Amino acid sequence: MANGKVIAITNQKGGVGKMTTAVNLGIGLVRMGKRVLLIDADPQGSLTVCLGIRNPDVLDHTLASVMRAVVEDKDLTDRSGIIHHAEGVDLLPSNIELSGTETGLVNVMSREFVLKEYIRTIRNDYDYILIDCMPSLGMMTINALTAADSIIIITGGIEDELQKSCWF
Ligand SMILES: Nc1ncnc2c1ncn2[C@@H]1O[C@H](COP(=O)(O)OP(=O)(O)OP(=O)(O)O)[C@@H](O)[C@H]1O
Ligand SMILES: [Mg+2]
Repeated sequence: MANGKVIAITNQKGGVGKMTTAVNLGIGLVRMGKRVLLIDADPQGSLTVCLGIRNPDVLDHTLASVMRAVVEDKDLTDRSGIIHHAEGVDLLPSNIELSGTETGLVNVMSREFVLKEYIRTIRNDYDYILIDCMPSLGMMTINALTAADSIIIITGGIEDELQKSCWF
């Protein structure tokens, strides 16, 4: 595949399995011989922690730093922020700094296209780029949706149905 397919894994609702789907789909695709980049687009950094980074907050190179580089029109060819995991997936990690990035985008021109612009520079290196979104429809998630070729919306499980039947 010349251009990696970009898939945003999303839902405004929290705790429905977005991160779990991203990591398992990603590693599954690697086992099928595909080159996969996972992008943690959640300042909670749970995907980053799940892939073994115990303290994401000490990382200098994250999604926040590459987004800043795009906004400041800096060189994007440095791949040092991408972590190569033993399972074969690559990870662009995140930490709490991403919350500030989202707020800072408010005054940026074409602010919906910042992540898309970064992905344009790396998508030839991958077959699939999976974006684990945060549970809200803020500017970061809008960036992920703008960059995506496809979207997977993870919905709640059986517990939700049981809850609904209690309410009505
Ligand atoms: N298919 C599943 N069956 C049972 N439990 C699951 C399943 N998928 C995820 N979980 C559990 O649900 C919890 C939330 O999962 P996860 O972190 O993937 O959700 P999330 O949608 O990314 O959450 P958040 O909205 O906070 O980012 C975790 O404890 C996870 O182990
Ligand atoms: Mg999550």
